[in-house]
Amino acid sequence: MSIRYIESSKQIILETADTTYQMKIDELGYLQHLYYGKKLGQNDMSYQFRIYDHGFSGNPYEMRDNRAYSLDSMAQEYTSFGVGDFRVTSIYASCSDGSRCAEFRYAAHEILDGKYTIPGLPSVYDNGDTVQTLIVTLIDKPANIKIKLYYGVFEELDIITRAAEIINAGNEIVWLRKACSMCLELPFGKWDMIHFHGRHCMERQPERVPLFHGIHTLVSGRGMSSHQHNPFVILCDRDATEDNGACYGVMLMYSGNHKTEIERDQFDSVRIVTGISDDRFRWELASGASFYTPEVILTCADGLTNLSHNYHRVIRNNVVRGEYKLMHRPVLINNWEATYFDITEEKVLAIAEKAKELGVEMFVLDDGWFKNRNDDNAGLGDWIPDTEKLPDGLGGLIEKINNMGLRFGLWIEPEMVNEDSDLYRTHPDWALTAPNRAPMMARNQLVLDLSRKEVHDYLFDTISGLLEKYNITYIKWDFNRPISDVYSYAFPSSRQGEVSHRYYLSLYALYEKLTAKFPHVLFEGCAGGGGRFDAGMLYYNPQIWCSDNTDPISRLKIQYGTSFGYPSCTVGAHVSASPNHQTGRKTPLNTRGVVAMSGSFGYELDLSQLSDEECDEIKNQIKKYKELEPIIHGGRMYRLSQKSDATHYMAWQFVSPDQSRALLNIVVTNPLANSAPVHVKLKGLIPDATYSVNGEFEVLGSALMKGGYTFQRLIGDYPAMQLDIVRI
Ligand code: DGJ
Repeated sequence: MSIRYIESSKQIILETADTTYQMKIDELGYLQHLYYGKKLGQNDMSYQFRIYDHGFSGNPYEMRDNRAYSLDSMAQEYTSFGVGDFRVTSIYASCSDGSRCAEFRYAAHEILDGKYTIPGLPSVYDNGDTVQTLIVTLIDKPANIKIKLYYGVFEELDIITRAAEIINAGNEIVWLRKACSMCLELPFGKWDMIHFHGRHCMERQPERVPLFHGIHTLVSGRGMSSHQHNPFVILCDRDATEDNGACYGVMLMYSGNHKTEIERDQFDSVRIVTGISDDRFRWELASGASFYTPEVILTCADGLTNLSHNYHRVIRNNVVRGEYKLMHRPVLINNWEATYFDITEEKVLAIAEKAKELGVEMFVLDDGWFKNRNDDNAGLGDWIPDTEKLPDGLGGLIEKINNMGLRFGLWIEPEMVNEDSDLYRTHPDWALTAPNRAPMMARNQLVLDLSRKEVHDYLFDTISGLLEKYNITYIKWDFNRPISDVYSYAFPSSRQGEVSHRYYLSLYALYEKLTAKFPHVLFEGCAGGGGRFDAGMLYYNPQIWCSDNTDPISRLKIQYGTSFGYPSCTVGAHVSASPNHQTGRKTPLNTRGVVAMSGSFGYELDLSQLSDEECDEIKNQIKKYKELEPIIHGGRMYRLSQKSDATHYMAWQFVSPDQSRALLNIVVTNPLANSAPVHVKLKGLIPDATYSVNGEFEVLGSALMKGGYTFQRLIGDYPAMQLDIVRI
């Protein structure tokens, strides 16, 4: 039993293999948060909360004679608003009488076997694990608003999920202005925050800062989870390292506008509130209606490595779905950086032929294959193959590629439309644009209003049509601009604050229907690279193109940051040309291969132009990747170098689940003259097992982990090395 209710103390205890989470219904019915951390046993942690009279923190009416009781200093599971808790709130609403306050008190709870689901939203699923669900119902009687707090406890995975359902139990409309997924309190401790900021071509850069007094806000209002702020944050002990120290992960499973607020208050207590961003959000909750928030995936672990392992495991096994979940991902060749829009059948076939010869398994035709798509000014929305570029049509091209023994994949960007397209000319009101205002343009395109049923249906029919007509086994689903001008002509003015979230409900429903109808198709997410790299997207796309930056030295940092939350099988990574098209940097083919191999592997360059030596090297890379993919995708990943080492080198390692084989990777980011040797300690091996290192010598696991391995004279043009460590 991972969830227990103790009637005598009115405590609810959630337990996973290594953690305990405790809450308590107090004498006024408030749901107090008591503890989340290392496993404790049955202790009632409420003894810790000695309450003082804090003067300016007021008291609920029933406690007017007990000035030590205040919502403003109490750790809570979900907050009330407007009634004396002045910190960041998890919910905010205005009622029909204009009042803007509600205090939520315990009404009921239930404990169920299995994992709850959230209507219309992706959520972590039970994959045959030991999972229980707790639902606690809170109510504000005057406003007649109920909140159901959902907790999913994945015992073996050390994962707790959370979500909320807000119910209008009254007869009048309630306008939700903020509806977060959860509130998590860390009443004691000194914390650093690690968050993942970035930009196009440089996503998920970890930044570690101590929490100051006040509110840290991590937000995306770009209509996408964004290149700028990933919906994932870690709070860790000031002295936490990869190996030790309390670390808490908060990952929002949502792909649209999000906000995480972390408040360190006047008493050094920390509150984390996360969910859909409340900026411009306003949801009309009719009498009897429910609003469901997206899910949050929480974990607590000793050290950052364990935290990452918990996320890697849950995403790989309980988020990603479908046939490709744990299957070999086809090694692909994508033509984008080889041809850009300048596609001809001749060029494509030349690349495909060479690719087949080298061991590639799938050809992916990127942007530019459809009518009027000679640059980014026109064509999006129509999705009719360009027979000038492809004289035998898309079907003819696919047949030729299939006849070579290659599978075929296709790029689409369904959510977008160019003004210069038949779709826009016929349905200008299908694009998100504000009335009487010229829209913001980005890459010359507009975003379709997916909150409209007609748009949803059009996209379902169009994508289904392509997948039914052609032998396509992979789709790269791109999204190349942020969403602005959020206005839907299908909704009245009072409900425009719903459009951003309705967009994502519709997008998720579209993905749900398509993945169910076409289970053999592998979907790869993409948003100008990794602008929508989140757990919500991973529920439908087993892999996501990690970044438009294919330079291996930049990629090291991007993939390093990504690895804190997401497993390598989800990371689309390709070998591209040198000099690199984004940075102009020249790097050896070996280095490009070593870096791309740490993801879902492919190529993105004109293979038909390579020398015989390069082709031989690629053949060997593909062979090696296929052999090592089960370890890279299914094993444990260890970050062996820190951000501070990256000015010289980066090292990381994969270990197979049975610890019988490991792969150590090292890439020099800045060759140094006459430097000290680079010394790394391996991780995750069996101490008393003997391993062969690259077939050159044999050594105990304990020696490699405690004594380490030294790399001498790492000089030259960004050299890379791999150590293949095999148990004998
Ligand atoms: C952005 C993607 O990230 C690229 O890989 C490529 O598909 C282009 N879009 C095509 O327009």
